[in-house]
Amino acid sequence: MNVYDGELVTGLLLSDGFGITQEAEDADVILINTCSVRDHAEQRALGRLRSLGALKRKQPHLVLGVLGCMAERMQETILKTAPDVDLIAGPDSYRQLPEIIRKHLNGSFGKFSIVPGDAGEDFTDIMPSRGNGINAYMAIMRGCNNYCSYCIVPHVRGRERSRHPDDIIIEIERSVEEGFPEVTLLGQNVNSYKWSDLGFHELLDRVSRVSGLKRIRFLTSHPRDLSEELIERMVMGGNICPSLHLPVQAGSDRILKLMKRRYTRSEYVSKIHKLREAVPDIAITTDLLCGFPGETENDFQQTLDLIGEVRFDDAFTFKYSPRPGTAAAAMEDDVPEAEKVERLERMIALCRKYSDNSRKEMIGREVEVLMESVSPKNASEWTGRTGCGRVTLVPGAYKQGQLVRLKVEKVLGFSLWGNPVLTV
Ligand code: 5AD
Ligand code: SF4
Repeated sequence: MNVYDGELVTGLLLSDGFGITQEAEDADVILINTCSVRDHAEQRALGRLRSLGALKRKQPHLVLGVLGCMAERMQETILKTAPDVDLIAGPDSYRQLPEIIRKHLNGSFGKFSIVPGDAGEDFTDIMPSRGNGINAYMAIMRGCNNYCSYCIVPHVRGRERSRHPDDIIIEIERSVEEGFPEVTLLGQNVNSYKWSDLGFHELLDRVSRVSGLKRIRFLTSHPRDLSEELIERMVMGGNICPSLHLPVQAGSDRILKLMKRRYTRSEYVSKIHKLREAVPDIAITTDLLCGFPGETENDFQQTLDLIGEVRFDDAFTFKYSPRPGTAAAAMEDDVPEAEKVERLERMIALCRKYSDNSRKEMIGREVEVLMESVSPKNASEWTGRTGCGRVTLVPGAYKQGQLVRLKVEKVLGFSLWGNPVLTV
């Protein structure tokens, strides 16, 4: 979502006449997009702001801005730690950025400004400036109503709001015209997308009919809202990719309840069984969180046990970081830091074992790879991704966006490697 927001802000400024520089020293305006999900990300952004503050003291005309969730959450801390900052703009306020930046540039603002947000903002009609020519990120909704007890997102990104389906389709058609063969539909909880009577699976139907669109991905899905209808759409396949990111967070029902996730471990596992029965080739990835308040060694063992039961194709692993203002912040953060680190390492090692296995199981199978670019490590090979999202290396020269059918012959680190069998 932050990558997409960065593209939105870039698109907004480019269409207003701004340009992009490659070096910070050449810029008149520097904007930093920030994340508040964990303390570590915030500390890094503050560090970066301090070093840019030093640049600003050398180049006083520079306009320095902080965007994103941190801008929403910690205005006072930012101004205290990085007094050189000129403007602070949370995730719902970007539409006003060009005007406010211009005021700063021509000196009509003496000091910093905090840009007010618009709670209903969905940025429809702003065309993002997209990166790689392959995958177009596309927000279909913003905000979240779930209030998982550890999570800052609903506090900084506001209530859930879905975009009009016609606007989504128009934006996808435009991105296909610009040459993007793939779209990733984004939302904090895409399964709860709703516009009047139209739910997420019906939106997917419409998106899958966009002519020329080769691949559709979406994230993130919430296990509780993953519907039978969505599973049916994945069975139909077509241009809907057989991959699903389904964060589970923990394996202990007691912890899941404290996290306010609103599903039990067995409900989660039975959805996974249904998905795998329905779409045997599906790649399932997840998010895992250890060291939540009150997590005992026994609770944590249940997370490890769940990892072994589900055998995720990949996982993002985190240690709990208390976020001020969330429900969990009121609980005692009682798992010692050293224990959190140790649990995180155990979780990473186990997940690595299953992700290595899942890549090895691909050897000998035929897959379809969407070509992205010449391999950065070897000019005689191209790199692309399978429908499941696995990075794949292929000898030869191709066109960006070309689909190539190949047989996987080996695994090289985190990548698959194979020779083409038939070019589609
Ligand atoms: N501490 C650590 N990880 C967190 N996440 C969300 N909030 C926190 C937190 N307070 C993780 C969850 C979520 C992912 C995006 O970030 O696993 O799914
Ligand atoms: Fe945060 Fe839960 Fe919403 Fe995901 S679903 S953004 S974890 S509150």
